[in-house]
Amino acid sequence: MHLPSFLWLWKIAAWSMGLSLLAYLFLAITGIWMFRVRTTGKSPLGVLLPWNRGEVQSLHYIIGMTMVSLVLLLLAVGIVGTLGHFGSLGHSSHLIAGLMVVALVLGSAFSATQISARKPWARPLHIGLNIVLFAGFAWVSITGWTVVQKYLP
Ligand code: HEM
Ligand code: HEM
Repeated sequence: MHLPSFLWLWKIAAWSMGLSLLAYLFLAITGIWMFRVRTTGKSPLGVLLPWNRGEVQSLHYIIGMTMVSLVLLLLAVGIVGTLGHFGSLGHSSHLIAGLMVVALVLGSAFSATQISARKPWARPLHIGLNIVLFAGFAWVSITGWTVVQKYLP
């Protein structure tokens, strides 16, 4: 296939990445919100946005599922695009960065399902994985942006 014919695929990658970062931001906001409600017993912007914990929790969960889907889409686009163009994988550190982000996101989603009073390790694991995920997102964005230059006309 011709070089520029893959450009649309990398455009999907760039847009999905933008949405993933937005989802991450909203997850951080709603996560910190839940943390504040749990530790102080009141809503951070109580009068303005009098949401209860359950509502914020569902919102956090839905945005989380969206982010997981976006990252899996990015993985599929990356693998299909690279195989279609080169016929093989592993052309830069973007591969390791991508696989790491996928592992972190799935680990985060799994640990989230384990959060309960009987499993005290799950919440710190969830929060820890998400802090590392921030660095992972930065790494995959920088390496992705670098390799995308090869496809630009
Ligand atoms: C991968 C997708 C994600 C899913 C499915 C998810 C889901 C959940 C769930 C179910 C909880 C438990 C809520 C509870 O009952 O206490 C939780 C807690 C939390 N999440 Fe997430 N989450 C995701 C990503 C994130 C991200 C990216 C961040 C931060 C950037 C984050 C920050 C937090 C925090 C701080 C808590 C703890 C709240 C507390 O201490 O009460 N989550 N998450
Ligand atoms: C969570 C985010 C992402 C994941 C999981 C991901 C995953 C992957 C994977 C696994 C590959 C195959 C790499 C190889 O075998 O060498 C790939 C390739 C690629 N990805 Fe991503 N990617 C992500 C974000 C991005 C972003 C933000 C861009 C930039 C717009 C991008 C652009 C590319 C390009 C251009 C390739 C072709 C690699 C090459 O020509 O060497 N990716 N991606």
